Amino acid sequence: MTRKKLLIGNWKMFKTATESRTFAAALNSQAGAEANSAKGASASVDLAICPPFTALAALVDTLPAYVKVGAQNVYFEEQGAFTGEISPAMLADAGVTFAIVGHSERRTLFGETDEAVGKKAEAVVKHGLTPVICVGENLAERDANQTADVVARQTRAAIAGLSAEQVAASVVAYEPVWAIGSGRTPEPADAEAVIDGIRQIISQEKGPDSAQNVRILYGGSVKPENIAAFGAQPNIDGALVGGASLEATSFARMAAALAGGE
Ligand code: PGA
Repeated sequence: MTRKKLLIGNWKMFKTATESRTFAAALNSQAGAEANSAKGASASVDLAICPPFTALAALVDTLPAYVKVGAQNVYFEEQGAFTGEISPAMLADAGVTFAIVGHSERRTLFGETDEAVGKKAEAVVKHGLTPVICVGENLAERDANQTADVVARQTRAAIAGLSAEQVAASVVAYEPVWAIGSGRTPEPADAEAVIDGIRQIISQEKGPDSAQNVRILYGGSVKPENIAAFGAQPNIDGALVGGASLEATSFARMAAALAGGE
């Protein structure tokens, strides 16, 4: 069994629809080095971009077919009086493939609970989308040696409502909060140890097949220069990348590096 590598760009609250089309145009340009390295890498690395909601349609329409589109958030209800929220069915209809759930910025800035993350993962899967479940400890938790406990609690809550098969087809992203946007990263071997622990939790909860097949990414200050070292770890299946995914050149370089071509 081999898990295909996966690179997901999380644009956060950056780029208008117009700016998103410019990014897609760079990947589409026949002559461009970006296009060549990203397209070549896509044979061995799945690629996706998660833009703001307002740019989803623009990217679905303009990105090359080998780059999928994901949402950064979703609500768990089917429809109703939930002003400002977006349902999984709306995302599926818009041509979206992935939905990030439980990003630490959602948890800390917008009060998203473990329980809500679990409901979101369940709702997303029900509509045929792939959840990208984010877990990770903050600095205080790390300093208190609570990393393993925190990610275990977050992982258990997120997958509680999913079947073994649904977990196997999902994506988990281990993102230490202190590494996000900070320029600091754990040693690849340390991220590997935490991710190995996440696989063990998944094995306990859903069985060894789920644990073997679920793709688990590392995220937090990933860039073209360091992505290969994370991707070389046996349990790390790719990366969830914020800042370094905003430029087409950088995104393409990371795709190539993860594919082993840079
Ligand atoms: P960063 O963000 O790559 O800018 O650190 C990662 C994330 O928050 O997903």
